[in-house]
Amino acid sequence: MAEVTLSRCRTLASFSEDAGSLRRTYLSPPMRQVHREIAGWLAALGMTTRIDAVGNLRAVYAGTDQSAPCLLIGSHLDTVPNAGFYDGMLGVVLAIALLEALENRKLPYPIEVVGFSEEEGVRFGIPFIGSRALVGRVDEQLLNNQDAAGASVRKAIEDFGLNPAEIPNAVINNDACAYLEFHIEQGPVLENLGRSLGVVETIAGQTRMDLVFTGRANHAGTTPMDLRFDAMAGAAEWITVVEQTAKSIPGLVATVGSVQTMPGATNVIAAEAHLSLDVRHAADNARRRAVEQFVDRAKEISQSRGLAVSSTIRLNQPAVSMDPGLTREVESAIREVGCRPHRMVSGAGHDAMILAERIPCAMIFLRTPGGISHDPAESVYAEDVSKAIECGLQLLDQLASLPSFQPRTLRA
Ligand code: GLV
Ligand code: MN
Ligand code: MN
Repeated sequence: MAEVTLSRCRTLASFSEDAGSLRRTYLSPPMRQVHREIAGWLAALGMTTRIDAVGNLRAVYAGTDQSAPCLLIGSHLDTVPNAGFYDGMLGVVLAIALLEALENRKLPYPIEVVGFSEEEGVRFGIPFIGSRALVGRVDEQLLNNQDAAGASVRKAIEDFGLNPAEIPNAVINNDACAYLEFHIEQGPVLENLGRSLGVVETIAGQTRMDLVFTGRANHAGTTPMDLRFDAMAGAAEWITVVEQTAKSIPGLVATVGSVQTMPGATNVIAAEAHLSLDVRHAADNARRRAVEQFVDRAKEISQSRGLAVSSTIRLNQPAVSMDPGLTREVESAIREVGCRPHRMVSGAGHDAMILAERIPCAMIFLRTPGGISHDPAESVYAEDVSKAIECGLQLLDQLASLPSFQPRTLRA
């Protein structure tokens, strides 16, 4: 079963916007192929797939009692550029593997498989569009955001054949009682401890920003070094300040992952430098203070060089705790299948941090070989996938005896 799961991840990874590498951003054409492929696997289980109005794939595996609340299991189907094959996809494929492993057995509660359409924030600079729709947080402002080609989120939805007016129908109602997400750890902690599975206690908060340094374009050959207003040089100075400052704050990570200059020619001094900034910490105050420091330093550097700088916040997502009760259940399921669980903080963001606003959430991490992720070298061990399936089955049975998973008629 692990081999089938891994081979399905590889199949999904073949649906890409780029030739020779994996990039699948929000509602891009290959997402249709992904939906078709997954719908085929679900159909074999007798399940009907629907695509909700923000493009999330959703399908329900019935329980023995229609009045019991639903357990959501899933992850995301979009990717970063030059992505690995397991970030997100593995969680969706594992949800299907779990249902297959039930061998037609019905649990007292229904299970909804969810493949979120957008978690990475690559196309619009804003992550979690898929899971936000389930908690009713896709508003006009979000729909008006534009991608690099000037298309809005609303237009992307319409172009995919979906209707933005139906977004409210994607919201989970009172019948969803919990969300479970399997995901690769994307870091080296479990591997260093020699453990297969981990359980997430907290997902670190993150701030994402865009900054623009503005100087003046001029001739690279005729403008003396002391008479320049070089936006790129100012940005470069600031990037190293961000790196040094982040190193001095325990637990903080800060990344400038994208830089574009205008006009972007070898023999022209850059008039503008457009940068992204991603700042994360498990403690929200530490993250906020660091962001203020970074913005202040950008202003100081700009002033000293005769440049201007502006910044726009794209995301301010506080740290989120997973549900303590559900987390204990996950921990005990991991033990039951003969593994030693490790409780940990997730530095990566996940859809669980959005759904936790509405329902109890828990996350199971699978060890990531070499701690490598967001890169084609990303991988996962087949033996850990087997353990995850075993642990998931154990957990589904444990949950069946919890009061919150009982049919309404039986609940205390
Ligand atoms: C998602 O992968 C993130 O950037 O945390
Ligand atoms: Mn990712
Ligand atoms: Mn992910």
